[in-house]
Amino acid sequence: MDADIAAAAARLAAGDLVAFPTETVYGLGADALCPAAVAKIFAAKHRPADHPLIVHLPLGTPLQDWARDVPPAAIRLADAFWPGPLTLVLRRHVRVPDIVTGGQDTVGLRIPSHPVALALLAAFGSGIAAPSANRYGRISPTCAEHVRAEFGTEVAMVLDAGPSRYGIESTIVDLSGGMPRLLRPGAIARSDLAAAMGLAADCLGGSGGRGPDHPRVPGSLPGHYAPRTPLLLLARASLQAHLIAAGPERDRIAIVCWSEPISSGWAWHLPDDPEGYAHGLYAALRAADAAPVDRIWVESVPDTPPWEAVRDRLARAAAGSGSTSP
Ligand code: TXA
Ligand code: MG
Repeated sequence: MDADIAAAAARLAAGDLVAFPTETVYGLGADALCPAAVAKIFAAKHRPADHPLIVHLPLGTPLQDWARDVPPAAIRLADAFWPGPLTLVLRRHVRVPDIVTGGQDTVGLRIPSHPVALALLAAFGSGIAAPSANRYGRISPTCAEHVRAEFGTEVAMVLDAGPSRYGIESTIVDLSGGMPRLLRPGAIARSDLAAAMGLAADCLGGSGGRGPDHPRVPGSLPGHYAPRTPLLLLARASLQAHLIAAGPERDRIAIVCWSEPISSGWAWHLPDDPEGYAHGLYAALRAADAAPVDRIWVESVPDTPPWEAVRDRLARAAAGSGSTSP
């Protein structure tokens, strides 16, 4: 792996794209200070130019190198959760190129905890701009095979470190204005963020990034993280009733459940705890999407705080696939 990391850092320095593992999902990286290299990310993902990228930083990088007017709450969050699955949106330093921020005055920053990501960042010695390594609007990759399946030879190199630990994307907190706002729920719970800042959990905003005031977070658009096959969320009892009613048609329906296994031709049973569920979710959705089915039915998950990020991704996957009835 050491030789691979050195080679990947050299590719980045040459302006190429490198896909790499993080503890959340795999990222598609480019030199954050080189606009021509960053442009390749937008081209490969088919991502609209006004959707900003997260800059991943080497361990020990002062926030002031990439942001200005850094508030004390940002320092507290960085101390509590970095390296780790948290992205901070701060007012940007002048040296951050427009293409990285989608022309906004803010920049998303994160120090990931994955040892391979940290080794790559240390070898490269500067910020790596990286969105999730999937086409725009699609399901984020949680292993190297997902990246290769989606991009083939378009990406110069894919560093393979097996499945991602968390399996859903980082929590994003906007600290560029007055009060901190949760733009995207993720691997770090709202209550833990609030506790680290000495705030009540409901002070972080209730939208989870869905409100019209966060138009620049593509992960917050209703249709995102979506399979191509129509996906519907159903409560357990309703899912079972519809399956019985489907008769022989059930062979054309993929099921993703968590409470009890369902015996059906195309069924994925995920763990009944939110961490285990998140870890397996995207691989299950990709597999269901690839199965010879017309529909994906997903058992809805509990309406409790630990499931917030999973509920958010499932709601977007359903919205993005455009399915409204069984
Ligand atoms: O876990 C993750 O965050 C993964 C890994 C690779 O780090 N990355 C990821 O990147 O999910 P991406 O581009 O798929 O999602 C990043 C989100 C986007 O919704 C983007 O709009 C938001 O971060 N973002 C980045 N910079 C921002 C900014 N300045 N203001 C608001 N949102 C920003
Ligand atoms: Mg993404």
